[in-house]
Amino acid sequence: MTDTPTAGAEMLRAENIVKRFGPVTALNGVSLRLRCGEILGILGDNGAGKSTLMKILTGYQPQTSGKLFVDGVETTLRSVDHARALGIECVYQDLALANSLSIYHNIFLNREILYPGLHILNNRAMRREAVRCLEEIGVSVPSVEAEVGSLSGGQRQAIAIARAVQGKARILLLDEPLAAMGAREAALIIDLILRLKAEGDMSIIMIMHNYAQTLDIADRIMLMQHGQVTYENDARATSVPELMTIVRREYQNFQVHRQSA
Ligand SMILES: Nc1ncnc2c1ncn2[C@@H]1O[C@H](COP(=O)(O)OP(=O)(O)OP(=O)(O)O)[C@@H](O)[C@H]1O
Ligand SMILES: [Mg+2]
Repeated sequence: MTDTPTAGAEMLRAENIVKRFGPVTALNGVSLRLRCGEILGILGDNGAGKSTLMKILTGYQPQTSGKLFVDGVETTLRSVDHARALGIECVYQDLALANSLSIYHNIFLNREILYPGLHILNNRAMRREAVRCLEEIGVSVPSVEAEVGSLSGGQRQAIAIARAVQGKARILLLDEPLAAMGAREAALIIDLILRLKAEGDMSIIMIMHNYAQTLDIADRIMLMQHGQVTYENDARATSVPELMTIVRREYQNFQVHRQSA
């Protein structure tokens, strides 16, 4: 499709994205830029608009206004499949895995390998590819035949990421990949994210709740509050106390603003 992009090249850009749901303005002019090989961490309160932004970047729902650019080219994402064809994959907050199916069926969910010319699943090929894919990204599971419902939250998240990576993602969007995880499970996923980054040309946007974890993993962070980006910086140039001060101040401003409106 395109040549291998150089590190630092712009992969994805959003300009002034607005999203309204009837009277609710979920996003009120959000802009962002994601470069090749970069991890962008998005922080923000419940209801700040983070998941809504992800869903727009991944073609799940259209913006009300604003522009998207993929590889520097203005693009209207028509669907999740369209975004996927451009190399954009999302692991949603609710994962969307089928718990009663095996790991390998989940990895190939909605893009099953069929025998050529037949409508019959090639389970052997999918098993083999699933094993290869999990090995490649360093995820260990007892067996690819295991039901996803029997896995821990961390393992399930890893399978969801494996599925996105198997789909040849160049831009990976992760919505709360560490939500409701213990320290050990979170470490597994952090490790996986950092390994994907180390491999080179994967660019990642991840929505996070934990400030310290975000500063550890991300190259750049963005703070979203009430549908807007209120702060953006290199992860190394900021700190947890600074972020907390900004959140508190913004929140107070917003309250004052709302009361006087
Ligand atoms: N389909 C929808 N219809 C109506 N309102 C919606 C819809 N999706 C999101 N919203 C509203 O948009 C706002 C932003 O929601 P969003 O899910 O993007 O927040 P979030 O930052 O992901 O929050 P959380 O941290 O809780 O996941 C909220 O006020 C929410 O109620
Ligand atoms: Mg959300």
